[in-house]
Amino acid sequence: MTQPTDIRRVRGRRPTLLDLYCCQGGAAKGYADAGFDVTGVDINPQPRYPFRFVQADAIAFVLEHGPEFDFIHASPPCQHDSECQRIQNNAHPDLIAPTRAALEATGRPWVMENVKGALPKLYAPVMLCGPMFGVQTYRHRYFETGGGFTLLQPWHPAHTAPQAKMGRPVPPGHYGQFVGNFSGVDLARRVMGVPWMNRDGIRECIPPAYAHWAGIHARYSLLAGAVAA
Ligand SMILES: C[S@@+](CC[C@H](N)C(=O)[O-])C[C@H]1O[C@@H](n2cnc3c(N)ncnc32)[C@H](O)[C@@H]1O
Repeated sequence: MTQPTDIRRVRGRRPTLLDLYCCQGGAAKGYADAGFDVTGVDINPQPRYPFRFVQADAIAFVLEHGPEFDFIHASPPCQHDSECQRIQNNAHPDLIAPTRAALEATGRPWVMENVKGALPKLYAPVMLCGPMFGVQTYRHRYFETGGGFTLLQPWHPAHTAPQAKMGRPVPPGHYGQFVGNFSGVDLARRVMGVPWMNRDGIRECIPPAYAHWAGIHARYSLLAGAVAA
């Protein structure tokens, strides 16, 4: 049973966005900057989440409330597919297929984002990388779309800056890899554009610039009638 919500799609208001598996709100910030009124859902408390927040299971919530929103974003936990977790042999549920099924059931346009390890399970995803948006880190994330919404693959600039080792301090002129128990939270906040987050949120998040780009396209599709408004 999820918590009640009074979100309704109302003409003439800011379009509403449901942010599933929201964590500390990297995706949320980008969609908010693109003009959406954002509601986040996470199974864990997220006191740093900067928008309206509901603590609930994402799939149960979207099945009950998804049709009330104009657009839906989902970031199912990536631990199931990330190299580090496989090495540690940690077991995590694979939520990609059940999340897709629940998103499709809403009839709303949607984006589902994940990591490279999930690629075999994603349908025709678009890959986003920091330098496409002036973000100085090579954090690749893959965006599958559905419900009538599509994105085009942007040009991928070459990785010309040297990278600091995973999680290690970032030497001048290098790009950081903000994973695991990384050092340099203040630098990561500036690079990723997430000044309200702690280390736990930063290692999980997409840079808001990625979601801003998706959100601008989502708003255009809603306005143009390319997806059901
Ligand atoms: C990869 S993080 C999302 C990152 C976020 N999109 C961002 O950009 O900051 C995944 C989140 O899913 C949450 N989560 C895991 N299982 C969940 C479930 N069944 N329902 C809702 N949230 C869940 C975790 O607590 C975690 O915060």
